[in-house]
Amino acid sequence: MGLKTPQLNYKAYAYKNKNYPLEIIDETINLVKGSNGEYVAPKGKILLKINYASINPVDYKLYHVKPAFLKFINDKQGFGRDFSGQVISIGSNTDTEVKVGDFVQGIYTPILASGSCSQYLLLDPKNSPITTKPTNIDLAKAASWPLVLGTAIGLLKDLPLKDSKVAVLGGATSVGRYVIQLAHNGGAREIVTTNSPKNAELLTELGATHQIDYRKHPNFLPQFLESVKETGEFDYIIDCYGGTQLFPEINHILKKGGAYHTIVGDAGGHGFAALVGSIKSSLRMISSNLGLIDYHYQISLLDNNGGWIYGARDLIQEDKVKIFIDSIYPFEDLKDAVAKLESGKADGKILIEVDKPVA
Ligand SMILES: NC(=O)c1ccc[n+]([C@@H]2O[C@H](COP(=O)([O-])OP(=O)(O)OC[C@H]3O[C@@H](n4cnc5c(N)ncnc54)[C@H](OP(=O)(O)O)[C@@H]3O)[C@@H](O)[C@H]2O)c1
Repeated sequence: MGLKTPQLNYKAYAYKNKNYPLEIIDETINLVKGSNGEYVAPKGKILLKINYASINPVDYKLYHVKPAFLKFINDKQGFGRDFSGQVISIGSNTDTEVKVGDFVQGIYTPILASGSCSQYLLLDPKNSPITTKPTNIDLAKAASWPLVLGTAIGLLKDLPLKDSKVAVLGGATSVGRYVIQLAHNGGAREIVTTNSPKNAELLTELGATHQIDYRKHPNFLPQFLESVKETGEFDYIIDCYGGTQLFPEINHILKKGGAYHTIVGDAGGHGFAALVGSIKSSLRMISSNLGLIDYHYQISLLDNNGGWIYGARDLIQEDKVKIFIDSIYPFEDLKDAVAKLESGKADGKILIEVDKPVA
C-alpha cells in the first residue's frame, strides 16, 4: 500500500446486494500525478486515511433491501457513513477548509457507492460534509457525531425554540440525545421524551423535563393528552424513532401552526410495513405542503451540502453538546457491531476502529 504508485490498494467492507455477505474486499483508488511528481487526489476530491467509522441504521436497512439489479450500478456496496482520519491529499480546485495533514471527521454521503468502513476514502466535499476535528475530542469520538448531530440540527432548523414545548419521540436514540440538548440550549420551556427507564437520569441531565416509558406505554397517546391538560399543547413534535401513536388526536396535541418533524416516518424497520408506513407519511407531507392539515409535517433528511458541519463542530469544541459512544469494535468484527446496532439496544454510537491512530 503506498502513495508513490498510481494505484492505492487497500481493504474495505462491501457487499453486492442483499443476497451476498458483507465482507472485507480488496479495493483500489486510481490517483493522478501532481506537479511535484507525487500522486495526488484527483481534481475536486480529498483523499483520506480512515481511523474510525461509525455505523448507522441506514447501513443495515440498505443491506436488507438492496435489490440484485443494483449490482449493475455498484457491485461493491460499501458500509458506514461517518468517518474520522487524516487528510492525505487534496486535488486541485477543491473547495474545502481542510488542509493536508489535518485530522478531520465527516460523512461520506453517496449511497450507492463505497462506505466509511474502509482504510481509505476519496470524497467530494461538495456533497460529503467534512471539517477539522475539534481539539477537545479524540479521533474515536470524532467519528461518532457527524450524521446524528447533523440530522438533529436539520430536525430543528428554523424552529424558534425559546419558551417552546417540545416532544422528542425516541429521546435516547443517538439523534434524540442531540435533539434534546439543542432544544434545551435553545431555551425550550418543556421537553417531553419517550424513552425506556435505563437512560432516564441521563436524559434529565441533557434537558428532558418529563419522560414517558415507551415500554410501559407503547401507545403513549393518553400520556400526551395528560401533558396537554397540564401544561398546554406542544409547539413541536420531533420524531427520532417512528410511529403513529399521536395522530388520532394530533389536533389536540400539537398547536395549530406547530411542526411535526420525523426522520423515520410512520413505521421503522424494513419490509412491507415500512413501505406502507413511508407511503402514509409521504401522503401526510403532501397534505402539509398543500395546506390541508393544521400543522407542518416534514420527513427530514440529512443535508448533504454540509454548511451545518462547521456550526456542529463549534458546538463540540465549546462543550455545548455531549457525545455518546456505545462501543468500539475492531475492523474485523463489523458483523458483531451490526448485530448490536440491529438489536436496537445501542446506547449511543457504535464505532469501528479501522486503523488505530498513532499516539
Ligand atoms: N432521515 C435521516 O436523515 C436519518 C438520520 C439518522 C437516523 N435516522 C433514523 O432514525 C432512527 C434512529 O437512529 P439512531 O442512530 O439515532 O438510533 P440508535 O442510536 O440506534 O437508537 C437506539 C436507541 O433507540 C431507543 N429505542 C428503542 N426502541 C424504542 C422505542 N420503541 N421508542 C423509542 N425509543 C426506542 C433505545 O433507547 P432507550 O431504550 O434507552 O429508550 C436505544 O438505545 C433510525 O430509524 C434511523 O434509520 C434517519
